[in-house]
Amino acid sequence: MKEITLPKASQLSSPNPVTLVCTQKSDGSPNLATVSWWTYLSYNPYMIAFAMAKTSYSGEMVRQNKKVILTIPGAELADVVLGCGSTTGRQTDKVAKFDIKLMDVAGSDIKIPCHSKVAIVCHLKEYHEVGDHYLYICDVEKVFADETENALFAWNGYAQIRPVK
Ligand SMILES: Cc1cc2nc3c(=O)[nH]c(=O)nc-3n(C[C@H](O)[C@H](O)[C@H](O)COP(=O)(O)O)c2cc1C
Repeated sequence: MKEITLPKASQLSSPNPVTLVCTQKSDGSPNLATVSWWTYLSYNPYMIAFAMAKTSYSGEMVRQNKKVILTIPGAELADVVLGCGSTTGRQTDKVAKFDIKLMDVAGSDIKIPCHSKVAIVCHLKEYHEVGDHYLYICDVEKVFADETENALFAWNGYAQIRPVK
């Protein structure tokens, strides 16, 4: 084996998971951001975690509102995943810019994109500084799924978004 960088390792571990992190802005309008760095943490109780850059507006809203929905996007959302991963909601209405159709989630006032395969409704438990990111550790309140959707993954590092099959 030869020594490589951690970014190179994340490229070699492709396909990597991909989520759309759904939050509310301060005015209550929706924001979405693409996040690959997430993981299941515990089944008892249900817990997950994800890491977002300190500069992320979504992260700021999670710290402010303590609520967030992580979704696994279906194949129709490939362009949305790339768009929401390359613009910040701080200045942009991503829902309008990328023409994202949203749907309600029972028991939550955060909307999620139509064609989501899985929706994990979370409450922020704690967050920690980890280098240039914050790690958000969340309690899971509800989980929903549409098993007919074909989940997207990030390929070639984070350059391409497509399903496994
Ligand atoms: C495939 C892909 C995966 C990404 N994964 C992450 C991630 O895990 N953590 C992160 O902070 N940003 C990630 N990003 C970048 C954010 O989505 C991007 O910085 C976005 O503009 C943040 O939006 P916000 O400021 O509205 O939160 C990813 C982008 C792409 C395209």
